[in-house]
Amino acid sequence: MKPALKNDLLLRALLCEPTPRRPIWLMRQAGRYLPEYRATRARAGDFLTMCTTPQIACEVTLQPIDRFALDAAILFSDILTLPHAMNLGLQFEAGEGPRFERPVRSAADIDRLPIPDPGRELKYVVDAVALIRRELAGRVPLIGFAGSPWTVGTYMVEGGGSKTFGRIKRLMYEAPRELHRLLGLLARATVLYLNAQIEAGAQAVMLFDTWGGVLTPAQYEEFSLRYLGEVVAGLTREAEGRRVPNIVFTKGGGAWLDRIAAIGCDALGVDWTTDLRDARRAVGAGVALQGNLDPSALFAPPEVLRAEALKVLDSHGPGPGHVFNLGHGITPDVDPERVAVLVDTVRGYAPG
Ligand code: CP3
Repeated sequence: MKPALKNDLLLRALLCEPTPRRPIWLMRQAGRYLPEYRATRARAGDFLTMCTTPQIACEVTLQPIDRFALDAAILFSDILTLPHAMNLGLQFEAGEGPRFERPVRSAADIDRLPIPDPGRELKYVVDAVALIRRELAGRVPLIGFAGSPWTVGTYMVEGGGSKTFGRIKRLMYEAPRELHRLLGLLARATVLYLNAQIEAGAQAVMLFDTWGGVLTPAQYEEFSLRYLGEVVAGLTREAEGRRVPNIVFTKGGGAWLDRIAAIGCDALGVDWTTDLRDARRAVGAGVALQGNLDPSALFAPPEVLRAEALKVLDSHGPGPGHVFNLGHGITPDVDPERVAVLVDTVRGYAPG
């Protein structure tokens, strides 16, 4: 029996139910900007060991919850654990970002990709979710996550991060059917992966489509949104007697919010290049919005940071369905004291 949830503001706001105040959590809230994270990482040795050791993933997930009055925890893991489980040989080299030893470069490479059984190859994630739920003891809800098929596909084909996405775009133009085969497979694997997280105790799930915004509108529909739709359609809708809300975040997708909402997701992540007023106007009242403070505002002096946070809060307006967040992840050079100022400002906000 899991303990009752003491703070369910996030779950209610994601379903557009009224809340006494706006919930707040921050993308990458567990990370290198926290000295306690850096200490754990030094002890663990490397990032992948942190992800694959449930005890460490749990410890790091709770660090920002213990330090700040946040309204949600997010599983400490990575979107690349899924391709890691597909035998691509993931490595994180210090200061270099992710690299795959065996990237996907041909139709034969796609043929060889297994659909991981989350209870086996990704058991460490499922175990981490269960452990975090136990350690959270109902303080705040736990968010599970995965990358979008398109975004995970970019890393698999490029072999790591990319500025131009030359390889996957070349595949898109030269052999679109092969790319569709890869993305369809990733969508199926992602449904299994997220549903396993939900079964283990994730109370909301988020899809990170970090690179959807590098596509043309038509390509976005064909190669990213279609597969986001397949994942959302396959998600478990209810667990522990409650709806499990889902959030879809396409960075750079501000012009397509109405089309993203049409796949039937509960909430849309919005980056800082779109005003929440315009976002709300574009999608109407039925879908929640999550965002969208410029992460660089955390470098501003406290009074400027406060003013910027208030602008975001005001821009959504008084209606239900806003979860405060950044427009993308916290950067490692942020002073944790500024995060405290931000959380304090959002919690104290009472619209007049
Ligand atoms: O938000 C959270 O606190 C949960 C943890 C989380 C991480 N990665 C931890 C992480 C989440 C949700 C992610 C998602 C992720 N991972 C995305 C999508 C979101 C986004 O930021 O756009 C992407 C594209 C990745 C892939 C990835 N992981 C890259 C490109 C890198 C290297 C860049 C970097 O910041 O070092 C990572 C590493 C990574 N993932 C770190 C963390 C805390 C840094 C690891 C370290 O050096 O300690």
